[in-house]
Formats: sequence, structure tokens, C-alpha cells
Amino acid sequence: MTRVFVWGAGRCGRALAHGLHAAGHDVAGTWNRTAESAERGGPFPWPAFHGSEVPEACLEAEVVWFTVLDSQIQTAANAVLRPHHIALHAAGAVAARVLRIASDRPASVASCHPLQTFTDDLSPPHLVQQATFGIEGEAAAIETAKSLVDSFGASHFVVEDEQAKVLYHAACCVASNAMVALADRAVSLFSAAGVSRTDALRALSPLIMGTAENLSRANEASDALSGPIHRGDTDVVRAHLESIAKRCPSELTFYRDMANEILKLVPKSPARDALAE
Ligand SMILES: NC(=O)c1ccc[n+]([C@@H]2O[C@H](COP(=O)([O-])OP(=O)(O)OC[C@H]3O[C@@H](n4cnc5c(N)ncnc54)[C@H](OP(=O)(O)O)[C@@H]3O)[C@@H](O)[C@H]2O)c1
Repeated sequence: MTRVFVWGAGRCGRALAHGLHAAGHDVAGTWNRTAESAERGGPFPWPAFHGSEVPEACLEAEVVWFTVLDSQIQTAANAVLRPHHIALHAAGAVAARVLRIASDRPASVASCHPLQTFTDDLSPPHLVQQATFGIEGEAAAIETAKSLVDSFGASHFVVEDEQAKVLYHAACCVASNAMVALADRAVSLFSAAGVSRTDALRALSPLIMGTAENLSRANEASDALSGPIHRGDTDVVRAHLESIAKRCPSELTFYRDMANEILKLVPKSPARDALAE
């Protein structure tokens, strides 16, 4: 059991605190700026601190895990960290060394970034337990991060190079954030077909989850592909293009671009003909 203080109990911080608690660690406390944000989503099985004082529980913790905004990590670390601390942060695009305040403060630093999306204060624990964590930094803190992640039942990989870390974070944003934007375009097409935007989102979610499940078993993304381009059903693709042109012309360029991306996965598909017309 490790005594961990979570500095910045927003969407990610709360999810990690719940994950730590569920894994049997001593969550020494969480910190927010204001009482209102500290209480949001509570009560919690750990003390929820707020304000400008660094709580004693934080000073006494073995590990401080920073989950404030990326731009605030260094300032927070400067105020909070003591020489005995192992310091982690959860940011995907920031190097661990932002936590190194002095050569002897803190004891060791690493970034431990969940490749997961947390959108509210009540993210279900399986989001942490099923995540993979990208870890980077100094040896001792890397070992601490690995053992915390193992205790969640989650997976990890270690990134040696800071620039590579930013690159994999860009990959995460493509997979997660761009997928949300993609879903919004699908909702627009549903809407043009007379289905409400909310009903469309409810209908799309199992489809997206099914796709994610197929991807989780795939060796290549193309293994998870189905649909008319994959089947080579040129008439269906032609019908899509005609119907979008009639009912929702603002989506036509997007559909063509997306279909051309899919074609890169199945370059021999005869559906190429429909897109070339
Ligand atoms: N959300 C995700 O899906 C996700 C996934 C992986 C990693 N992360 C990482 O987790 C970190 C937090 O992201 P988040 O999405 O959890 O953000 P968030 O929900 O907005 O939470 C941000 C936290 O930082 C605090 N904060 C905001 N502005 C601050 C300031 N000026 N000075 C000090 N503290 C401030 C907030 O305090 P109050 O609560 O008092 O406002 C809150 O506790 C980031 O490094 C992000 O890269 C997030």
C-alpha cells in the first residue's frame, strides 16, 4: 500500500484517486482550488482539501500525483514537493523533468499518463483499470509508477524519449478527440435523416463500442473494418454519395475524404470507382 496525494482533483485526478482507493492504496487526500470544486461529486473516502495551504497529508505522502492543467504542473510542484517525495504527473504531452525542482527535491520524478478519456467527476473505475499508462522519467519514480499501475490491473509502457512522448500523445488525441468530432459528423447525417441528435448519439454508441472491441482484437486496423467499401459494394457507396448530395450537401466533401481514408486500408476495393465519378 502506497500513501498517495492527488494534487488537482478534476476529471483525471478524481478517476485516478478512485482507482488508487479501489486498488487498496492510502489516498492521503486530494486538492482543489476552492471548497466548491473540492466537494463536487463527493463525499469521498479520502480527505478533500482546498485552498492555498499545502495540507500536512500532502507533505507526509510518499507519492504526489499532479493532475492539474499541464500549464500549472511546474508551479504546483514548486509549492508542494519536498525532498522525500516521489512526484508523478498525468500529462501526456509534458516531460517528467518539469517536476524536478532542484537536484535534491523531490526524490524522483516521472510522468504517468493514462491513455484514457475522463469526462466527468464520476468516471467508472474500469476506465482506469482497463487503461494503458505511458510512463517516462527517472528510474525510481518509474518503478513507483509501474507498481501503482500494476496494482490497478492496468498495463503500461515506458517511453525513453521526451519527444516520442509528445508524439504518442498526439496519437491519443487523434484516436479519442478526433473520434468525438467524427461522431458529431455522423450525428449530422442522422439529423438530416430525421433522427434527433440525442437518439443518434445513443444509437451510435454501441456501434462505436463494437468497433473499439473489434480493434482491441485486431493486429492491424484494417482487421476491424466492415461496411460497403470493405465489401466492395460500389452501388451502396454511390447511393450514399447521391443521398448526401441531395439531403445534406455540406457533408459531401467530408464523406468523400473519409471514404478515401478507408480506401487506403482496402486499396483494391472496387468502391474506388464510385468515389472517382
Ligand atoms: N481528462 C482526461 O481525459 C485526461 C486523460 C489523461 C490525462 N489527463 C491529464 O490530467 C491533467 C488534468 O486534466 P483534466 O482533464 O482532469 O482537467 P480538469 O478536469 O480541468 O481538472 C484540472 C484540475 O486542475 C486544477 N486547476 C485548474 N486551473 C488551475 C490553476 N490555474 N492553478 C492550479 N490548479 C488549477 C483544477 O482545480 P479546481 O477543481 O479547483 O478547478 C482541477 O483540479 C492534465 O495534465 C491532463 O493532460 C487528463
